[in-house]
Order: sequence, then structure tokens, then C-alpha cells
Amino acid sequence: MSSLTNKQIVLGVTGGIAAYKSAEIIRRLQDRGATVRVVMTRAAQEFITPLTMQALSGNPVHVDLLDTEAEMGMGHIELARWADLIIVAPASANFIARLASGRSDDLLGAICLATQAPIAIAPAMNQGMWHNQSTQENLTTLQERGVVQFGPAAGSQACGDVGLGRMLEPGEIVELAAKQFQSGLLAGKRVVITAGPTREPLDPVRYLSNHSSGKMGYAVAEAAMEAGARVLLITGPTNLRPPERVEVKQVTTAEEMYQASLAALDDCDVFIASAAVADYRPRQAAEQKLKKGTQETMTIELVKNPDIVSAVAAASPKPFTVGFSAETEKLLEHARDKLQRKGLDLIVANDVSDTSIGFNSEDNAATLIWAEGESALTKRSKRQLARDLTGHIAGMLAGR
Ligand code: PMT
Repeated sequence: MSSLTNKQIVLGVTGGIAAYKSAEIIRRLQDRGATVRVVMTRAAQEFITPLTMQALSGNPVHVDLLDTEAEMGMGHIELARWADLIIVAPASANFIARLASGRSDDLLGAICLATQAPIAIAPAMNQGMWHNQSTQENLTTLQERGVVQFGPAAGSQACGDVGLGRMLEPGEIVELAAKQFQSGLLAGKRVVITAGPTREPLDPVRYLSNHSSGKMGYAVAEAAMEAGARVLLITGPTNLRPPERVEVKQVTTAEEMYQASLAALDDCDVFIASAAVADYRPRQAAEQKLKKGTQETMTIELVKNPDIVSAVAAASPKPFTVGFSAETEKLLEHARDKLQRKGLDLIVANDVSDTSIGFNSEDNAATLIWAEGESALTKRSKRQLARDLTGHIAGMLAGR
């Protein structure tokens, strides 16, 4: 049984008799470890109440695009970014038509338009509506845009008809949802990832460090693992719980991260350096706590740390090497320079002057840069950006 541990799922419920089964979908998603937020259309509320869905999901139910109070809590754009996956179940013929035409005049439509997360629909409708040419054309349009379709099943329908158009059972929908996270794109590959900050000691109680939380690197580790890779996460000190089924090596200093990275190269197809490594460390860490003296200033001599990702890129054989470039100015210029100077195959240019992306934020935006091209990833959750990055890496590996 595939896991949905830590997955954040928006469950969209539209108007149809199968809406009562959505309650069961919530439970089953939660049983697999997912957090669920429910968005209901107006028609859905004729079939099942928001109160039921709120009690089951343990979260407020979102129903209205123009509700200022709800928007202040978690607005539709935040909800669109929060989601790792949007499942619309049941998806009525009307909703499918609206989604195909890009309508955003209700909350669910707006979230589907704004999200970077995958969208899955579980159609549920009368068999005549299902076979109608308009519905089929709308479904083709959605498939071409990457919307995933769960079902429908055939059988007897609430209206007395028999045929295609029944929504899949909750258990089947949840199983298909879990499979969305297992692309297999990096199956058989060994991926080594550095994450978090390093700490460079000044004395037994003080150190030089930075604001990296490790969220980006841990998300990359999870995405690579879900893509089928065997993952080693070499991490500086963070408060995060490492993803399940990922091998972890804890380090503190840049020198330790360097040694751990080189030791991992014997078995490494892809190396991803997302860690914020200190470029310099104090020449000598004092053995005892430094005392405040009478002098007004203090000088600490720093020496250069080894450049981990450059050393990896210079290794033979060389793994596919990916760096990150955290910049507060001239983002693309500096990132392109690092791509070349460090001998990388790909670099993730990360503007850290904007505090809503970059260090210690939930979201990120980046430009992927490689020798032959660039691709901008607009603001999205770090988890989604990690999935997009691993997908891009898999594509580049396949093209070699
Ligand atoms: O951890 P979070 O709070 O989620 O924040 C994520 C992040 C902002 C830290 C991440 O997205 C990011 O941008 N990481 C790279 C930070 C960085 O140190 O960038 P840099 O431009 O200084 O370094 C360039 C590359 O060289 C990086 O891949 C870095 O890991 C690597 N490097 C740097 C110095 C060094 N001595 N060894 C290295 O390997």
C-alpha cells in the first residue's frame, strides 16, 4: 500500500450524488498520512454539508471565492500553493466543462487555475452525459493539459441507468492518488543531496552560520525518493524530520559535509547541492569560551572552506552535478557564472532577497539554468519545486 505521509491534498467536491462518498475519501487519505483541506462548490453543498467535511477533515472547509474572512485565513492562492495534489471527486460534467474552459468564477475553478500541483478528477455522472461529445471533448482537452483522470467505473447508476459514469470507489481513488507521487523517473539511480546550513565553531558555544532551514533540500530528498531513487541526504543541523526511506548523514561543519560528500561518490549518479555551506570558517576554534575583554573590537581570522560541489563536479567519474545559487542581486548573471566556474550540469538560481522565497520559507521560485537553456519556475511550494526539479533532472539524464 503506497503512503501519502506528509502529503497535502486539496479535495474538491462538486455537485453530484457521489458527493457522499467524498467523506470516505477524506478518511482514507488521512489513514495513509495525508492532510486534507476540502473545497466545495455551491452545488456540492446540496448533497453533503460543509460541517460534515469540516468535522472529518479537521480543517475549515473552503466554499467561497469572495469570502474575505476565509481569504485572510488561507486564501485561494495560498491553498493552490499549499496543495501537493488536487483531487476533484466527484467531478461533475458541469465542473469538467468549466475546468476545460479555464473558468475561475468560483473557488475551486480559481484554485485549479492558480496551482502548480497536479490535478486529478474522478468523473461522476449519468452515462448519457458521460458519452456526450461535449463531455468527451472536454476530457480530451484536460488530458492534453496534464489533468489526470481517475475512472469512471461502469455499473448501475442512481438515476436507474446502467453504464459508464459511476465514480470510482474511495479506496480506488486514494490508491491512484498515492501513485501520483511515485513517478519512477529516477528508478535505479543513487542521488546524494546536501541540505541545510553548516556551523563553523568560534568556540565551544558560538558558531558562524546562516538562515537555511533545510526545507528545500529535504523536499528534494523526498521528491527524489518518490521518483524511485535511492537517496542519501547529507544534512547540516536543522529542526526537520528527514523523509521516510531516505538514508541520512548528519554533519555540522563544511569540512564534515565535504568529507561525507566525497565518501558518497563511489555510488552516486546525481549530486544535488542545496546546502548553504559557509564559504569561510574561523582559522581556529577556541578550546574554551571566548571571554569579553576590555577591547572595543575583535578580529577573527577566517580561512576558506573547500568548495564541495566543485570538488564533486571535478571527480572522475563525475555524477550529474546540480548546484543552487542563492543571490541577492544579479541573480541570473551570478548563477550562470557559478554553473560554469563550478563545472555543473545544472544550477537552480534562487533569489533570496525576497523573504517569501528562499531561506526558511515554505515557497520558492527559481530559474533552472544549464548549458543549452533556462526554465523559470514561478512561485510554488518547495515540495512542488523539488518535484519539478527532479523531473527536469530525470529528463536531462534521459536525453544524454
Ligand atoms: O534551507 P532553506 O531554508 O529551505 O533555504 C533554501 C536555500 C535558500 C538555502 C537553497 O534554496 C539555496 O539556494 N541553497 C544554496 C545556498 C548557497 O550557499 O548558495 P551559494 O550561491 O553560496 O553556493 C553555490 C553552490 O555551491 C551551492 O550549491 C552550494 O551548496 C555550493 N557550495 C558553496 C560553498 C561551498 N563551500 N561548498 C559548496 O558546495
